Amino acid sequence: MESKLRVALIGCGNIGADICIAIQKGTIPAEIVSLHDIDESKATLLKKTFKLDAEICNLEEAISNSDFVIECASASAVEGVIKNCIKYRKDCLIMSLSGILENYDLLQEARSNHIRIKIPSGAICGLDGVRSAMEAGLHTVILTTRKPPQALAGAPYVLENNIDLSNITEPTLLFEGNAIEAAKAFPANVNVAVALSYYGIGPKETKVRIVADPRTSQNTHEIYAEGAFGSLHTVTVNLPSPRNIKSSYLASLSAIAELRQMAEDYINYCMYCPIKRSGN
Ligand SMILES: NC(=O)c1ccc[n+]([C@@H]2O[C@H](COP(=O)([O-])OP(=O)(O)OC[C@H]3O[C@@H](n4cnc5c(N)ncnc54)[C@H](O)[C@@H]3O)[C@@H](O)[C@H]2O)c1
Repeated sequence: MESKLRVALIGCGNIGADICIAIQKGTIPAEIVSLHDIDESKATLLKKTFKLDAEICNLEEAISNSDFVIECASASAVEGVIKNCIKYRKDCLIMSLSGILENYDLLQEARSNHIRIKIPSGAICGLDGVRSAMEAGLHTVILTTRKPPQALAGAPYVLENNIDLSNITEPTLLFEGNAIEAAKAFPANVNVAVALSYYGIGPKETKVRIVADPRTSQNTHEIYAEGAFGSLHTVTVNLPSPRNIKSSYLASLSAIAELRQMAEDYINYCMYCPIKRSGN
């Protein structure tokens, strides 16, 4: 029988569905074996839609029954996911990066237990260069996010400061602060800021700027970084996910790319390795 990476999906919403679509294409040696969602009807719907041979179970069972865990639920799920991954010795991919911001200590605990917590690049390019540059040190990392004004509607910062987005007629810098402040002010933007902080100089030192730009219809993320290596500037112009207008397509694709890598590594190295990690 063909070997496959056995995956637990924690969160059965849009990204979970994108992952199922990718696996169904048959080029990733992985299968979903367990599903968990705080709203069980979401897990049931996903199972039915993709005709998955997967068990719907609680968080602990879902994780213990798998080889690899994908968290694509919400920040509130992250602590429990990482703790159970440590307990059952499973590597995992975390999509809800604001949960990472709140659980930096758990990341260290996972690392010292030799559990890999994968952080996807999400909706931004250039993190490979930022990570490499960190080997010699960076002194400046700035993320500039540009969105159409209405895409920022409802953000706590906009509401608290009574900003009238409909009055913005030219590109306007709405917010400047570090990644921790940005996460509170614009939580919908948190994933990109945390990914950049994680691969770079950390959330306290990473500067975030939010620009409301009525001349654009897309979400653009720019990185500017300076350090011993020189400087870099990347620009990522995102289209929305085909099935979820609120999410960048590249974010789902980054989860799929991470899964492909994990599954191929598992098949190529772990399956036949004499010191293969023991299961549950
Ligand atoms: N890293 C990135 O670049 C990136 C990009 C987009 C989205 N995300 C994050 O990925 C996550 C999933 O995104 P989505 O678009 O699929 O969301 P979604 O709302 O479509 O789906 C989330 C699913 O998780 C379930 N859920 C929520 N909290 C849960 C919990 N504590 N335990 C179990 N299930 C829970 C919900 O019921 C829902 O079915 C979100 O946290 C989002 O912020 C990350």
